[in-house]
Amino acid sequence: MTELVLDQTPFSKSLRGSTRDAHERAEQSRYMKALLGGELTLAGYTQLAIQYYFIYGAIEQVSDAMASDPVGRDFVFDELRRLPKLAEDLAFLVGPGWRSEIRPLPATEDYARRIVQTSQEWAGGYVAHHYTRYLGDIAGGQVIRRLLTRQYRLDGPGVFFYQFDGIGSAPAFRARYRDLLDAAPWDEAERGRVADEAVAAFECNIAVFDELAETMGRYRAA
Ligand code: HEM
Repeated sequence: MTELVLDQTPFSKSLRGSTRDAHERAEQSRYMKALLGGELTLAGYTQLAIQYYFIYGAIEQVSDAMASDPVGRDFVFDELRRLPKLAEDLAFLVGPGWRSEIRPLPATEDYARRIVQTSQEWAGGYVAHHYTRYLGDIAGGQVIRRLLTRQYRLDGPGVFFYQFDGIGSAPAFRARYRDLLDAAPWDEAERGRVADEAVAAFECNIAVFDELAETMGRYRAA
């Protein structure tokens, strides 16, 4: 009986449930709390945008490979690509020489490696990483966008990363994305593996935030 109920739960819903604890820990991480509490300078936010450049570089590189995968191709959205947006943001936040100045943290390198390796093995792994970042940016990321606008008066370069102009209504896009998750041809075991990889993706983000927290003392707002 219980199994029947579990089977009927849409995957998008169980995925959200499986990642709830990790989401809470990501929100509560020291770096995120300091950022959203308005305790950091703009340079403190820039450190996160720099790490995103390497993380999205990995995801969008595997997106290209997924275009020919029978399952993965449903989760390739050109309108979501963040790398061009991040390039514009970093040119503004770091300066014209940004490409030669930015470095990934060790946790970011581990995260990017995991994205590439997992996705090469398996489309479900790609989807887990894709879901964790893009759905988060479209939903909760907007909280950070409002912070950047309010705190640093940014409303253009610097916050392009959070602008998803190509997707139409964000709630409608998220609903469509959940439908895709529910329709993916995965049995219960594979759904479990996708959920586990999504939790691992959250952990990778938390590890990056933890490393950012180590140096955030340099970026305390006065
Ligand atoms: C302080 C930081 C964060 C805040 C304030 C925040 C807030 C939110 C909010 C308000 C939602 C929408 C919930 C709803 O639809 O009812 C959401 C969804 C989501 N967030 Fe976050 N979030 C944060 C950090 C993160 C991080 C670091 C990640 C992962 C890297 C993440 C991943 C997600 C995902 C995947 C969803 C979509 C859940 C679903 O609908 O299945 N969030 N977040």
